[in-house]
Amino acid sequence: MLHLAGCWFRFMTVIKYSSPGKVILSGEHSVVYGKPALASSINLKLHFSIQDDKKRPENLPKGLDLVERIVVEYLSKNGFEIALRGFNYKIDSDIPISEGFGSSAAFSVATTAAFLEFYSGRKFEKVVINQLAYEAEKMFHENPSGIDNSVSCFGGLVYFRKETEFLKTIHSLDFYLPEKWKNSLFMVFSGSRRETTAELVASVKQLYLKDPENYLKIFNQIEDCTKEVLVSCKTQDFDLFKKGVNRNQELLEKLGVIGKIGIEKVRELQNFGSVKMTGAGGVLEGSGYLLVVCDPEKKDSLISYLNQYKIKFYPLIPDSRGLMKI
Ligand code: MEV
Repeated sequence: MLHLAGCWFRFMTVIKYSSPGKVILSGEHSVVYGKPALASSINLKLHFSIQDDKKRPENLPKGLDLVERIVVEYLSKNGFEIALRGFNYKIDSDIPISEGFGSSAAFSVATTAAFLEFYSGRKFEKVVINQLAYEAEKMFHENPSGIDNSVSCFGGLVYFRKETEFLKTIHSLDFYLPEKWKNSLFMVFSGSRRETTAELVASVKQLYLKDPENYLKIFNQIEDCTKEVLVSCKTQDFDLFKKGVNRNQELLEKLGVIGKIGIEKVRELQNFGSVKMTGAGGVLEGSGYLLVVCDPEKKDSLISYLNQYKIKFYPLIPDSRGLMKI
C-alpha cells in the first residue's frame, strides 16, 4: 500500500514528544552479555518538537540527521512516499548529558517518534519507535544492549534481557519502585566522566576477552543480584533492596568500570546507606551519578552533607509513562 505523506498535515501545528531518562538499578554492563538488567525511568525528561518550515535547519545537532535518515528509510521501505522536507525544531532537556541518566536514549526515542509522525502524518506503536531508536543508539554507542532506549520508550520499571541481536525480552513490570521508598532514593554526582559509554563497554570487552571465565562468573553473580533487586521491589523489601545494591556495586568494582574518584565517593556515601554507580560508570575521572539508598533516619544528615560539600544531587522520582506525545 502506498501512503501519501506530506499533504494535508503539512500545515499541521507543532509535533511534540517527551521521553524520560533512566536509572539502572542492577545489571549494567552484564546486560551487554545477555544477562538481565532492571531499570526505572525517571522524572527528568527531554522534549523535542518539530514543525514544517520552508528551509531545512543549518548545522543539525549531532545525531538528528541520523535519526531522520533512519526514519525516512524505514518509512520508504514500508510504502510511504517520502521526500525530505524543511523543518524547524526545538530540544529542551533536563537530563544531564553523559552522566548515566540515558540522555542519548531519550533523545533517540523522542526524535524518532517525532520524525515518524512528521513524515507519515500518523503515530506509530512504541515497539516500532523503540526498534528505530535502537538503530540510532547503535550508531551512537557501537554496541549498546538497548536497555536505555527501551526504558525511555516504555517507561516504568523494565526488566530487560537481550537474547540475540534480533530477540530481546523487554518486560514492562506491573509494579514500580515502592512509593514508600521515595524519600530514601537519591542520585548523587561523583564527578563527570571522561570516557564515552562506547569506550567503557569496549574496555569491559577487552578485559572479558583476556579472562572470560572470571568475567562470566562476575556476570552470573550480577544476574543473581538483579533478580534479588527485582524481588525486593515486588515484595517491597527495603533491606533486600539495599543488600542487592551494595552487592551490585562490589561486582561493578570487580568489573573495573568505576575509578578511584567514584569509589571514594561511594565509600563516603555508604555512611548513609547503600550505594552503587549506575549506567556506564567512569574510570579516568568521575563516574557520573550514583544511586544512593539512604537509611530513613540518615536522610537529614545526607542532605546536610551534600549541601555542605556542594555536591549535586536529585531525589530519584520514578516516571511510569515513558515516551509521551504532548
Ligand atoms: C549504559 O546505560 C548501560 C550499559 O550497560 C551499556 C548498555 O547496556 O548498552 C553500560
